[in-house]
Amino acid sequence: MENKHLEQSEYDQFRTFLEQQCGIVLGDNKLYLVKSRLAPLMARFNVASLSQLVSKTLSPHERQLRAAVVDAMTTNETLWFRDQYPFELLKTKIFPEFSDLRRPIKIWSAASSSGQEPYSIAMSASEHQSKQLGGLKMGVQITGTDISNTMLDMCKNAEYDSLALARGLSVERRQKFFTDSGNGMAKVVEPIRKMVSFRHLNLLDSYALLGKFDVIFCRNVLIYFSPEVKSKIIAQFAQSLNPKGYLFLGASESMAGLSNEFEMLRCNPGIIYQKKT
Ligand SMILES: C[S@@+](CC[C@H](N)C(=O)[O-])C[C@H]1O[C@@H](n2cnc3c(N)ncnc32)[C@H](O)[C@@H]1O
Repeated sequence: MENKHLEQSEYDQFRTFLEQQCGIVLGDNKLYLVKSRLAPLMARFNVASLSQLVSKTLSPHERQLRAAVVDAMTTNETLWFRDQYPFELLKTKIFPEFSDLRRPIKIWSAASSSGQEPYSIAMSASEHQSKQLGGLKMGVQITGTDISNTMLDMCKNAEYDSLALARGLSVERRQKFFTDSGNGMAKVVEPIRKMVSFRHLNLLDSYALLGKFDVIFCRNVLIYFSPEVKSKIIAQFAQSLNPKGYLFLGASESMAGLSNEFEMLRCNPGIIYQKKT
């Protein structure tokens, strides 16, 4: 039998496992995706077939394999200054509103992927600061979290290839915020890197240890989850936000029917959600 064959029952067990582990819901027709994402792990974990890989994954003792499988099943698509409006709104609305704080503005990028989102936030803060001297009196502290350890390593490295650099960065920002490190790669400059710290976090777990934030970015990840899981996550975001704090969702995501703890603000362009007081 083909070593990438999976019985329907194995696929169903795997789907349940994945949803329990990280919230990602796989439709009936995503067997091809599972095959293509998991096949590379067969050699790494020394198993002869996908069926064996899946059955090993279902064993609670296989922690390393489980983490690698979840990592492989995540979609990490991202780019610099994605959708633009959230970063414009930081500069035109949110930073000015929080400018009197006697502590740093705290921002959380809750599915940071390879780092483009949290570093774009840091670059926006730096641009705001240089235009509006004293505009961010106590600075900005950004926390980036993700479930994927591979992505977190990329975030911490802060070094990007020419393909990643070509997506969403203007020439000016490329020059100002990166130093060339050879082979077409470039690294985010230290003052920007220093504004961001990274840690592992599964959005299905508790966020209490992260503390409170003024702004949360949770973009382009809730789309993979069920409505129940989305509601729970948004309820936890409300707990994690300071009064009047803001939540950004992805451009195609909405809070409709999920929570009444936020007020929707239309900002033209873009929508943000403000925690009700
Ligand atoms: C499509 S990327 C979005 C990146 C960025 N927010 C953006 O909009 O460009 C989705 C990210 O969510 C992460 N993710 C998926 N499930 C997660 C979970 N349960 N907890 C934390 N992060 C998760 C993935 O690893 C991936 O890096």
